[in-house]
Amino acid sequence: MVVYCGDEVSALVLDIGGSWVRAGYAGDDTPKAVLPSWVGCLQGETQDAPAEEKGQGSPKPSSDAMEVDEAKATPKSTTKYLIGDGETSAWRPHMELKNPLQDGLVNDWDLYEQIWHACFDKQLRVDPRENPLFVTEASWNTPALREKLVELAFEKFEFPAFYVAKDAVLSAFASGRSTAVVLDCGGTTTSAVAVYDGYMLKQGQNYNNIAGDFISEQMLYQFQKDVGQPLVPRYQVASKKPVELGQPADAVLRDRPDTHPSYHHRMQLQTLHEYKETVCQVSEFPYQEEVLAARPQKPFEFPDGFNLQVGTERYRLPEILFQPQEYIVDRSQSVHVNGKPWDWSGGNQPQANGSTVGNPTAAGSAGANPLMGVPRMIYNCVNACDIDVRPHLLNNVVLTGGSTLFPGFTDRVNFELSHLAAGQRVRMHAAGNTVERKYSTWLGGSILASLGTFHQLWISRQDYSEHGASIVNKKCQ
Ligand SMILES: Nc1ncnc2c1ncn2[C@@H]1O[C@H](COP(=O)(O)OP(=O)(O)OP(=O)(O)O)[C@@H](O)[C@H]1O
Ligand SMILES: [Mg+2]
Repeated sequence: MVVYCGDEVSALVLDIGGSWVRAGYAGDDTPKAVLPSWVGCLQGETQDAPAEEKGQGSPKPSSDAMEVDEAKATPKSTTKYLIGDGETSAWRPHMELKNPLQDGLVNDWDLYEQIWHACFDKQLRVDPRENPLFVTEASWNTPALREKLVELAFEKFEFPAFYVAKDAVLSAFASGRSTAVVLDCGGTTTSAVAVYDGYMLKQGQNYNNIAGDFISEQMLYQFQKDVGQPLVPRYQVASKKPVELGQPADAVLRDRPDTHPSYHHRMQLQTLHEYKETVCQVSEFPYQEEVLAARPQKPFEFPDGFNLQVGTERYRLPEILFQPQEYIVDRSQSVHVNGKPWDWSGGNQPQANGSTVGNPTAAGSAGANPLMGVPRMIYNCVNACDIDVRPHLLNNVVLTGGSTLFPGFTDRVNFELSHLAAGQRVRMHAAGNTVERKYSTWLGGSILASLGTFHQLWISRQDYSEHGASIVNKKCQ
């Protein structure tokens, strides 16, 4: 048996989230490469000849940005893929931005494969045939999608060994725990998943798409409603002059008639991600306008020079994470709960009050897929597990994902969860280090794949040849 551990061969660890891709080597503290999960697609572009044909040897990336020729995967297609921060944020006529994931699951395998190429060929510059590959997956990934994943690894990339593990289990490991309830609030999904003794418990697992992107979308709606004009992203601004607080912008805009709507929209959201990450905050108690109005305002300047002092609004939209039904302002934005569309008309709605404080039965008791705030998601997840396990889970509440970085997030979850689980000991664990909070899934993979005892868990090429793709559902539990 080939042993992939120790100093000789480092496993590659790949974590593809809805917003960011992290790739690196097992045993490292941080991923070597972090790039957006959004892929730029240019249709009908003439393909450049692959670098080898031009006699250049291995292609050398000029920066963290890169272009991936699809010729490698499906030679007939003339789509050119652009992957990397510099590539996807730079404006190009007709460039469409697409994401390979939907609700945390792969739904575009071509794009997914392009991201693998970008990570291995261009970022890490490794030969897949020489390193085992460890990938992360959403806790609700399906057996069929896992089989496609293992096929991709062995058939197309020819990795010698492969493993796939649940993101919640890995985040628990990264926090030094094998038992925990993991609340992951990232870019595209928020989930609560119980982990016991290193294994995910299916009971109580729940997720929805009310996460960072959703909040930024709601902000876009609110901004355009309040300001009465479209939000101008940076790529449109040629020059700007300073203007007084709240006054219309005085900017010269670029004429970009061939902009793809997906690019324009993503750039608007990027501006709102910055806004959200600089000025927004979660109230430590359920939103109360009068109390929060007394708090200091924060300034923010948009790319065209329009600038504001942000008051209670900086608390209002993140409140969506805690009281979704009350604080979602644009109901045309689709909400998914456990992969199913949420029906605002009442078909699957629980009681109206989403706030959990003083109302332990609200939001969550009705329907198989209730729309819940974060503390209720955690509480319901714990309560669905065996009664003996619950105290261990409540004692180990792990908060992870970029959207848990809102100031006040941890205090608020603690406040509400302690009310819900009155009389029980609740302990929160949120890494103080932001890098660890954003990369915890990757880090858990890095730790696990570098353990000396892990070598027996890899699916080897031989296992795959003997048992086929279904081996993944037996070996990777
Ligand atoms: N300081 C911050 N305050 C609030 N939100 C933040 C902060 N930093 C990052 N975010 C948000 O976190 C989100 C990205 O989180 P994360 O990196 O965990 O996503 P992901 O793992 O790629 O996505 P997912 O887990 O949904 O598949 C973005 O929406 C970003 O705006
Ligand atoms: Mg994530």
